[in-house]
Amino acid sequence: MAWKWILVAATVAGLGALLRNKETRELLLSELHQVNLYLTRYDAWQLVFLSVGATLILNALANVLFRDDVYPLSVRIKRAFFRVIRWVPSVRTKITKELDKTLAGMEKSILKHSSKSRRSLPAKGLSMDSVMDEINKLEQMATIDWKTGLVSGAMYNCSDDLTRLTTQVYGRCAWSNPLHADLFPHIRQMEAEVVQWTLDLFHGGPLSCGTMTTGGTESILLAMRAYRQIGYEKGIEYPEIVLSVSAHCAFDKAAEYFRMKLTHVPVDPVTRMVDLVAMKRAISPSTVVLVASAPHFPHGIVDPIQEVAKLGLRYKVGVHVDSCLGGFVVPFMEEAGFEMDPFDFRVEGVTSISADTHKYGFAPKGTSVIMYSSKSIRRMQYFVASDWTGGVYATPSICGSRAGSLIAATWATLLYMGRNGYVESTKKIVTTTQKIAAELSKVPGVYVLGSPKVNVVGVASKEFDIFRVYEKLIERGWHINGLQFPSSIHLCVTMLHTKDGVADKFVRDVSEVVAQVASDPKAACGGVGAMYGVSQTIPDRSVINEIAEGFIDILYKC
Ligand SMILES: *Cc1c(COP(=O)(O)O)cnc(C)c1O
Ligand SMILES: *[C@@H]1O[C@H](CO)[C@@H](O)[C@H](O)[C@H]1NC(C)=O
Repeated sequence: MAWKWILVAATVAGLGALLRNKETRELLLSELHQVNLYLTRYDAWQLVFLSVGATLILNALANVLFRDDVYPLSVRIKRAFFRVIRWVPSVRTKITKELDKTLAGMEKSILKHSSKSRRSLPAKGLSMDSVMDEINKLEQMATIDWKTGLVSGAMYNCSDDLTRLTTQVYGRCAWSNPLHADLFPHIRQMEAEVVQWTLDLFHGGPLSCGTMTTGGTESILLAMRAYRQIGYEKGIEYPEIVLSVSAHCAFDKAAEYFRMKLTHVPVDPVTRMVDLVAMKRAISPSTVVLVASAPHFPHGIVDPIQEVAKLGLRYKVGVHVDSCLGGFVVPFMEEAGFEMDPFDFRVEGVTSISADTHKYGFAPKGTSVIMYSSKSIRRMQYFVASDWTGGVYATPSICGSRAGSLIAATWATLLYMGRNGYVESTKKIVTTTQKIAAELSKVPGVYVLGSPKVNVVGVASKEFDIFRVYEKLIERGWHINGLQFPSSIHLCVTMLHTKDGVADKFVRDVSEVVAQVASDPKAACGGVGAMYGVSQTIPDRSVINEIAEGFIDILYKC
C-alpha cells in the first residue's frame, strides 16, 4: 500500500527535521526524563505486558479497519456483529432450530420425486440395454414439461434437429481433448474458428483474440484473473472490480477466488442501468476493471456501454462487457431490424467481452467464449508451470483436460445456425420480449423494470407483494425467476416462448393473477414466495448462506 509508506516517510522526515534543532533535542530529553520518573511507579513486567498487549490489540484493530478485503468495511463489521450475537446461546438455539426446519422442508420437496438410489457400483457391469433401462426409469422423475414454454430461460432452443446434430458430432469427438493439440488438430481448428466467428460478430479489431471456456462463469473468472495480473504488474496489492449491483454474481465469485476487491455501485432506480456518477466516484487507484452488461440478468437491461467505456479510457482501466446472456442476440439486433447502441469492440475502451454459446448460441451446455481487444490481455489469463516434474505445462483456461466434444458440437451448432439462423431467432426473441414488456406495462398494479429491449422482462409492484404473483404463476405451471433487492420476478424469453400463443398465455396469466392479488393487496404471502420475501428482510445474511449451503448439501443426498 503506497499511502502507508508515504505516511512512514513523512513521519521520519518530520522527526528528523525536529531533532536537528539543539533546543528541541534538549527539551525532548527533559520530557523523556519526566516520562521515566512517571513510569517508575510501575513494575517492569507491567510495562512489558502493557506494551505487548496494546500492540496486539492495535494490530488486530488495524487489520479489521484497513485490511483490503473482497468486501467493504461496512459489510465486514456487520458480519462480525452477527457472529458475536450468535454466541448468545438462546439466539443460537433459535437459529439452529429454524434452519433445521427450513432445510427439512427443502429436502422433502427436492427429493420428493427421487427413487431409491444405488449405494455403490454394481459388482458386475450392466449390459447396455440395462443401462438404458435405468436412465429411462430415472428420467421419469422429471415431470416439468419445458417444451410447452412454461420455463424461464434454461432451455434456449432444443429443437430435434439441433439435438441430432450435436449428439452426432459429440459422438464422433467424444474422446478428444484439446490439451493434446497434436492428437486433435481438428479440434484446435474448430476452437480457433468459434473464437474467430464470435470476434467477428463483436467487431474485434486485428489485435482481438479470445478462447473458448466451459461457460459464462469461467469466461468471467478468466477475464477478472487477467485484469488482476495487470493490476499486480502495476504494483496494486488488491486489484479492484467496480460493477453495478445488477452485474452477474460470477464477478463476486471471481473476486472471492482471486482475492480481488469488489465495489458495487447502484443502478438508476428507473432505467435500471448502472449509475454512472456512482461508478465514476467508485473508481480508485486500485481499480483495474469496470463492468457493464449487455444485457444484465435480473431485468434484461443493457448498460450505457459507451459511457462506461469513456470512464475506462479516462482512468486507464479495463472495461468488461458481460454479454453472456445476450451474446448471440445483441450482435444480430440491427440486422433483425431493432435499434441497438454500440456495445462491442467498436466502442473504444471496451477491452473484453464474454458471450455464451450455450445460451442463445443454442450450443450444448458447457461452452462460452471470452474475447479481448488485445493479445497482451489474453496472455494474462493463461497458466504456465515451467518447472513441473510432469513437464512444462501450459493451459489457456481453468481446466486442464477439456471436452473437445463440446467444442466440436458448438462449432457444428454455429455452422448450422449461420448468420441468417441467428438473425431469425433474434427477430423472434426480441419481438416476443418487447411485446411482453409492452403488454405487462399496461397491467395495473405492477410495473416493468426499466425498458427491456432484448430477452428478459422483469416485473415488480409498489402495491402488493410481487411474490404472491410468483406463487400463483407457479400454481398455473409457470417456472419463472424470483429476484431480490427489489422484490421482482422475471421471464427470460427463449425460442420456446416465441411459439404461437405462449407469450399471450403468459401475459394473460400474469394479468389474471395480478387482478386476483390486487383485490386484496395486504394479504400475506405463503409457501415458496414467502421464502423470497422473508429472506430479504433477514439482516444476518449468514443465515441465508447457511440455508443455501444446506440446499447444495441436499443435492448430493443419495
Ligand atoms: C448466465 C450468465 C452468466 C454466467 O454464465 P454461466 O454460463 O451460468 O456460468 C454471466 N452473466 C450473465 C449476464 C448471465 O446471464
Ligand atoms: C430452434 O432454432 C431453429 C433455427 O432457428 C428453429 O427452426 C427451431 O424452430 C427452433 N426450435 C425451437 C424449439 O424453438
